[in-house]
Amino acid sequence: MKHVLLIFSAIYLLSCTSPSKDPIDEKVEILMKQMTLEEKVGQLIQYPSHEVNTGPTVKNTNEAEDIRNGYVGSLLNVTGNESTRQLQKIAVEESRLKIPLLFGFDVIHGYKTIFPIPLAEASSWDLEAMEKSARIAAIEASSDGIGWTFAPMVDVARDARWGRVMEGAGEDSYYGSLVAKARIKGFQGESLNGKNSIAACAKHFAAYGAAESGRDYNTVDISENVLREIYLRPFKASVEAGVATFMNSFNEISGVPSSGSIFLNQQILRGEWGFKGFIVSDWNSVTEMISHGFAADPIEAAIKGITAGCDMDMCSKTYRKHLVELVKSKKVNEKLVDESVRRILRIKFMLGLFDDPYKYCNNDSTVILSAPHRQHAREMAAKSCVLLKNEVKALPLSKELKKITLIGPFVEEKISPLGNWAALGSGVNTVSLIEGIKSKLGENAIISYAKGTDFNGTDNSGFKQAIEIAKTSDAIVLALGEPGWWSGENKSRTNIHMPAGHEQLIKELRKLKKTIILVLYSGRPLILTEIEPLVDAILLVWQPGTEGGNAIADVLFNDYNPSGRLSITFPYHAGQVPIYYNYKNTGRPLTDEKCEWCTKYIDAPNKPLYPFGYGLSYTQFDYSGLQLSSEVMGMKDTLKVFINIKNSGVNAGTETVQLYIRDITGSLTRPMKELKNFTQVYLKPGEEKKLSLDINVKDIEYWSYGNEYKAEPGKFEVFVGRNSIDNQKASFELK
Ligand code: GLC
Repeated sequence: MKHVLLIFSAIYLLSCTSPSKDPIDEKVEILMKQMTLEEKVGQLIQYPSHEVNTGPTVKNTNEAEDIRNGYVGSLLNVTGNESTRQLQKIAVEESRLKIPLLFGFDVIHGYKTIFPIPLAEASSWDLEAMEKSARIAAIEASSDGIGWTFAPMVDVARDARWGRVMEGAGEDSYYGSLVAKARIKGFQGESLNGKNSIAACAKHFAAYGAAESGRDYNTVDISENVLREIYLRPFKASVEAGVATFMNSFNEISGVPSSGSIFLNQQILRGEWGFKGFIVSDWNSVTEMISHGFAADPIEAAIKGITAGCDMDMCSKTYRKHLVELVKSKKVNEKLVDESVRRILRIKFMLGLFDDPYKYCNNDSTVILSAPHRQHAREMAAKSCVLLKNEVKALPLSKELKKITLIGPFVEEKISPLGNWAALGSGVNTVSLIEGIKSKLGENAIISYAKGTDFNGTDNSGFKQAIEIAKTSDAIVLALGEPGWWSGENKSRTNIHMPAGHEQLIKELRKLKKTIILVLYSGRPLILTEIEPLVDAILLVWQPGTEGGNAIADVLFNDYNPSGRLSITFPYHAGQVPIYYNYKNTGRPLTDEKCEWCTKYIDAPNKPLYPFGYGLSYTQFDYSGLQLSSEVMGMKDTLKVFINIKNSGVNAGTETVQLYIRDITGSLTRPMKELKNFTQVYLKPGEEKKLSLDINVKDIEYWSYGNEYKAEPGKFEVFVGRNSIDNQKASFELK
């Protein structure tokens, strides 16, 4: 094994030594020539601060001393102008070569103005709005010492048991690729050396969302076809978007941990995709190759990590302790270390840190939580809400309402709605649900409130009071669901219902035969099958962020017509998981007719409760006239797909028109549907529009039997509609 690694790294290094004309590369070379081996290794080291802990605690270190000696290249979880300036000063005024530090932080969905969790934002299908959220987050973070965010998380996730579904864009790799590009552009701005530009980080490379049983950090064992076709696409898109850095994932893929994977990091990321940035490990993931059983000890972990091109060691200090000696004893070729150092220095030069090391330490902090930032957070939260049920038009509520009853632990809550990975978001700045409704209805409205139960649903001592106040109401707004800290890293769940006590409270209130509106908080798809018939409306608000209360009030009282569409499937039963819309047909597909020998369960349907792309509106959009520009498509053609859409309801609103294709036959089996285009259209009541959506051959390419992305001639179906199940169909042939 070792000789294979050394052979590959030699070949790889030969391919890297071609002289570059890029002025930044020349600056890097000049600096490299002055660096000692110890100082080079220093650039590969990232230390954690303990202001915010996002991983297993690391023994205290003497950061200042190591920075002064040039043994640290980056720190994470240090925030604020004060702290970052103090440490940067040591690096650039007291160390020998004055190489600036890079300060990284998890600015996942906002810095201090917190936006809805990423899975919520993805429900908006508004790429520009998501880009703007990332831009605002960068403006706030870069004004407070941060030059690098460990975002966007671009892991495709099909398993609601996995707690980190909250952090990504859901189950589809095409849509996830577009969301990744939007967020990277938002963080990095027009160019990395921009005043408020921060380096983005595509994570977690790769296939972290495919953890077996949805259990965080668990084994991933998937085919190369699934890896390429589903999990790698958003990462490839991130490289195309110019992302500055990547982060390796904790998991192994088919026996090889990502931090030690030459195949992933060197062959695919750098070799095939031409990625020029640097890779940081995840917290301790270099050392964790020992626990994986892929390295015998920290020395072998260091060899495997640096050979695989995992450039920066987050927190494990394995590089710090062993790399210098390994190079001196010729067990690691110094050229490998040089390559990693070059990639890191290049990003620091591109960020402008050598021109102004204090670039992020002294900016105007009045931008933080500014009114425009809050306004965008409010609009984003409203756009992220998904109306799952509204059969008897229980919603919208009238602003003339004189009396309203609010029940549930989320009504007054200010922390949980920020969701996990909420950076420096604070409950002090959050608008709670009751505050949002009071502000909407004014002081004259009578608002009755009862907590009813606690977040865990274990305390039903409040049921009695809740039932009492509900008796005197016409409409009840129930604020229940999964608290923000039940999803996120290492928050996998086997039971993906809302807390049992919450379901019980709904059953008790149902007995009153009053109108019940459920405002549902969650960081993942929940199993709602049992409670769905017991409530009249369900508004999924996810974890809506700093302005959640105002945004939910905007939707409840029709100041915003809900337009959210699911980017992840809501299962009918947890036993179906993983369940997703782009499933394969199998040799014995379930058909509508009764069928004995078909792929099915004997105790549940195959279909989900709510499918990918699903969401209701306060109005009705009618689709008609699906037409194709041609029934035959050449390899160089663009096929135009036309559809009429009419707002036949009484509310203006936004519809997300979705286009899926089905490649009927391939050199490998193909999914029943694949999202390949979508567009959003705002229509007033009675307004009608003819829309045109394109299908390009590039869209049809897939990782085929020949181990390459290519489009294969044959028959295709096109589906256009309001979600992945409810749509109109046409056919064409690719020749
Ligand atoms: C965590 C997460 C990663 C995060 C990093 C730094 O363990 O897996 O997403 O960016 O550590 O906080």
